[in-house]
Amino acid sequence: MKQTNLLLAAALGSHLLFACGGEPPPSATSSSAPAPASASASLLDGSDPKTCEPCHAAVVAEWRESLHSRAHHSADPIYGALRALRTEKQGPEIPGKCARCHNPRDVAQHESDAAKLGVSCATCHQLEGVHLEDGKKGVAALDAGPIGRFRGPHDIADGASPAHSTGPALAALTDGKTLCLACHGEEKNAAGLATCSTGTEHVASGETKGCTSCHMDEVQGPSGSVSTRPTHRSHRFRGPHLASREQQPGIVAEAVALSGAFDKDRLVVKLANRSGHAFPTGFPGRMALLEVRAFDAAGKQVYVNVTSEPMKEHPQAVFNMGFTDAEGKPALAAFATQLVRDNRLKPGETRELPVEVPKDAKKAELRLKLFLVPPPLAKALSYTGPETAPIVLAPVVVTR
Ligand code: HEC
Ligand code: HEC
Ligand code: HEC
Ligand code: HEC
Ligand code: HEC
Repeated sequence: MKQTNLLLAAALGSHLLFACGGEPPPSATSSSAPAPASASASLLDGSDPKTCEPCHAAVVAEWRESLHSRAHHSADPIYGALRALRTEKQGPEIPGKCARCHNPRDVAQHESDAAKLGVSCATCHQLEGVHLEDGKKGVAALDAGPIGRFRGPHDIADGASPAHSTGPALAALTDGKTLCLACHGEEKNAAGLATCSTGTEHVASGETKGCTSCHMDEVQGPSGSVSTRPTHRSHRFRGPHLASREQQPGIVAEAVALSGAFDKDRLVVKLANRSGHAFPTGFPGRMALLEVRAFDAAGKQVYVNVTSEPMKEHPQAVFNMGFTDAEGKPALAAFATQLVRDNRLKPGETRELPVEVPKDAKKAELRLKLFLVPPPLAKALSYTGPETAPIVLAPVVVTR
């Protein structure tokens, strides 16, 4: 690992590593330059989070639990499966496209140790700024700083760290969103359909809180042995994958305020989107499902909205996107030419969903489930891993 980075450092000089305007940097292994004798030859070239541990242990441990540390195809089988399928169907330039956000530390050698780090410390901290103009994305948007210089959310005096140089606070981090938008902004497929638009949804939501206020929660304890602050923002980047791995609702429980009221022979369910974007958001294959069960006075179940085929039985209770190819056949977003359905909760939306229930229904249970890999996607990717099981939220009970 060290060698790859030394060679890269040598090839590119001590700065602007990967600030490549969309073009992949020269291949690490094609360089024959000798290792530099400068500070960039130290272990702290930013490539290996292990080297940060002695001083920033809490943050390193949190990052290891996050999906960012698993963004490489060797660590995320869902991404790995789609990457392989797209490469097979769309050609060998696919891995280079994905690398811009999934293995940004080495976009030339996809199997290198640096690539395997996924979205690592240096991706977000060895930075001088972030440039989103002209639709720049991934590494092309990240203005990488000199090796061995890390900037964070605080103004840090020169010489404060014996291990690396620092600098003034980075606005792209402290505003809680600009850095995130480099990769989470908006993606379009070959047909120009927006397939992932968390960034534009966030703007539409009118949400004043940045991404970090929900996804980097403030936790007790300093960020490591060198910090004197009593709290820090968690680098677990809580999201639905973390929830799925921990088998707890986690942040997903905060996504939707769910309530309901009986009105004659109807039950009116209300869903208020409290996430800072659409629900679900991000990768276009996600699906949420609202299950409604009603019971009579004796506690016998008298109604259930879906049993085995939600899209046929109660499509309004399915919150997802639907894509088709030119012939109108269902297709994965990456290969689609048309968006035929978007029933996700819009940013900031409160939706009322009337459900016809039998007159003798006295009590109802509303249960929201989030599928990271719903059955059709699992089938298309031949994926059978734990994310095929939904994240199930605690039921909301309504009585007449
Ligand atoms: C502009 C940045 C960017 C590029 C380029 C990119 N991705 Fe992603 N990808 C993301 C982000 C951000 C997420 C996380 C969104 C989410 O969790 O919903 C993600 C998530 C995914 C997921 C979901 C993984 C999971 O565990 O649920 C898949 C699959 C995926 N990407 C495939 C690809 C493939 C294949 C390519 C290359 C053709 C690619 N991506 C290119 C930013 C990018
Ligand atoms: C996806 C981007 C991202 C990654 C990856 C990342 N960080 Fe951060 N980091 C941030 C942001 C954003 C903040 C500022 C949060 C805030 O306080 O608003 C931050 C804050 C910090 C801080 C200041 C903590 C404090 O005491 O307030 C340190 C130290 C730090 N990061 C180190 C690391 C290390 C070490 C790694 C790798 C293990 C890492 N970061 C990975 C985005 C990232
Ligand atoms: C020998 C100890 C040491 C090591 C090792 C070390 N750092 Fe630091 N780092 C410091 C000190 C000291 C500060 C200043 C802390 C402060 O004022 O809160 C600092 C500050 C930072 C900041 C700015 C944090 C902020 O609050 O703005 C970032 C980002 C950072 N380090 C990243 C890293 C990364 C990434 C690594 C590993 C590649 C690393 N550091 C390794 C000692 C270290
Ligand atoms: C260099 C690109 C990049 C940057 C910058 C970045 N992310 Fe990500 N993020 C990703 C990718 C890629 C994934 C998905 C990885 C996968 O599924 O393989 C992801 C996943 C996530 C997830 C899903 C976690 C889960 O458990 O489901 C959250 C939340 C997230 N990022 C928040 C943030 C926030 C907040 C910021 C800004 C501080 C940020 N990201 C900056 C690339 C990035
Ligand atoms: C008000 C809180 C809030 C804000 C602000 C917010 N989010 Fe989220 N985010 C959530 C909740 C709750 C979820 C879980 C529900 C879901 O998965 O859609 C979530 C889910 C996600 C996911 C996981 C998608 C998936 O299926 O893997 C990503 C990625 C993400 N957010 C990125 C961002 C980014 C980037 C921003 C800023 C542009 C942001 N979020 C702003 C609350 C927030």
